[in-house]
Amino acid sequence: MIIISPSVLAADFSVLGAELDKVAKAGAQYIHLDVMDGIFVPNISFGPPVISSLRKKSEVVFDVHLMITDPIRYIDDYVKAGADIITIHYESCENPLEVVRYIRSKGVSPCVSIKPETPPEVLFDMMNELDMVLVMTVEPGFGGQKMIPEMVAKVRVLRDHIEKNGLSVNIEVDGGITPENAPQVIDAGANVIVAGSAIFRADDPKAVIEKIKALG
Ligand code: DX5
Ligand code: ZN
Repeated sequence: MIIISPSVLAADFSVLGAELDKVAKAGAQYIHLDVMDGIFVPNISFGPPVISSLRKKSEVVFDVHLMITDPIRYIDDYVKAGADIITIHYESCENPLEVVRYIRSKGVSPCVSIKPETPPEVLFDMMNELDMVLVMTVEPGFGGQKMIPEMVAKVRVLRDHIEKNGLSVNIEVDGGITPENAPQVIDAGANVIVAGSAIFRADDPKAVIEKIKALG
């Protein structure tokens, strides 16, 4: 089954609650919340207060993507804000596995993301402790970019590894995903699809969600 995780970065921030409702009613199972600190990535978005306000209004799975340096400092805050899944970046800290274990100890699902230049093999050793890996298909920091086609091969390497080891780990892709290029990443083994612009900027977000889901 394909899981759709619309990125709110492309939503209308003045009516975020309504935007969440719209995509949840349209069939999105997750909502992707991009947290940026202006240091790990050259952009700033929002933090725990926005997420906890949304939490009171929505039952959908909160897929929180932390693009912040030294994420261990803030895990408690995002747990308290209502995250169901917390993704940290492999490149954002000295010891990603320690952060993964901390997230798990709080009863939240851990995920580790890799930037376009990071090889997928860095995740192999920790795979059995992860619920999901996130392959960035653009340089993190901004919505509305074009997917980098070379990232498809990284998804395949990760899916092969997961299967060979009899594990059950979701593979999420994020950045520039559209109904047109989604078949490539899904065929390579991705099963959680983030899409910001393609969903929130569409005339008919429901049709886009249904189209991508039908690829699975
Ligand atoms: C980029 C973010 C993405 C982004 C996706 O750093 O992690 O989640 O908002 O947006 P689109 O689908 O517009 O590329
Ligand atoms: Zn993201």
